[in-house]
Amino acid sequence: MPILSVMGTKGGVGKSTVAMGISAWLSKLQKEMVLLVDGDTHVRTVELKMCPGADVTLAQVLEGKHSLADAIYSCALKAGGKPLFPRLAILPAGGRFLPPGSRDIVGFVEHTVGRFERMLSTLRKRFAYIIVDTPASVGFEHLILTAIADALLFVVNPDLDSILSSKVTAEGLKQLLGIQAVGVVVNRAPRGSSVEEWTLQAGEIAPVIGVVEDDELVEDAFRRDLPVVALYPEAPSSLALRKIAEEILKMKIEPTRLLPKLELARGS
Ligand SMILES: Nc1ncnc2c1ncn2[C@@H]1O[C@H](COP(=O)(O)OP(=O)(O)OP(=O)(O)O)[C@@H](O)[C@H]1O
Ligand SMILES: [Mg+2]
Repeated sequence: MPILSVMGTKGGVGKSTVAMGISAWLSKLQKEMVLLVDGDTHVRTVELKMCPGADVTLAQVLEGKHSLADAIYSCALKAGGKPLFPRLAILPAGGRFLPPGSRDIVGFVEHTVGRFERMLSTLRKRFAYIIVDTPASVGFEHLILTAIADALLFVVNPDLDSILSSKVTAEGLKQLLGIQAVGVVVNRAPRGSSVEEWTLQAGEIAPVIGVVEDDELVEDAFRRDLPVVALYPEAPSSLALRKIAEEILKMKIEPTRLLPKLELARGS
């Protein structure tokens, strides 16, 4: 049901690692299907690692070339020939939502919001959780994929740059689209040293729901084009991601509609 966007203002803070990790664990910790949307149209980490070779994307569905069902893939990760996450599906956003050469953003929104709302209501019925991995870059597609969220989860590193920039983004999105930050993950915490100072700072964005340590197994899995939760499910980082998924399961996130959020953006 709820749509949760994983955000972080800076590049490379671990948004995709957290999005893949919590989606995989959410699909294991409860009985219903989970959808992970690869909302990064530039750096397609989720697509590359979880459903390589996907050829139909949300962008093509919006062009009217395919149905939504064609763009939803089973997570391709396997162990011993069996799916590793049988209740996890992936939806790649693909490339541009606007037709080539078009800059008619207002026209696109006016003509497409109804279809988007219908697609989202179909997806909400089919999936218990919809997690959206978002990019650090800014584009029209990314704004739409942020606007569909009911709530935001921020990923920060233990440095003031990422925390302060996320704080500004969280405040801006609350004001612009009325979407609330419901949690923060402090990722790449130095092993063995206190993160109290950083969790205090990050807590100003939203409650800190987890700390993931800097874990070389994350890098190792990444280089092999796999999420850490698939290759090293018992690694400290994987277990921290599991705890974050457990925190998300406890949250009450109310579903929202897209149109009022876009209207708020137009008025502000
Ligand atoms: N906890 C961690 N410990 C060690 N390395 C990590 C950790 N989290 C992420 N990384 C590494 O940092 C790099 C960036 O991670 P990731 O792609 O998840 O970040 P991102 O915020 O999605 O990046 P982008 O802004 O490019 O989308 C990867 O090489 C990944 O392996
Ligand atoms: Mg990413």
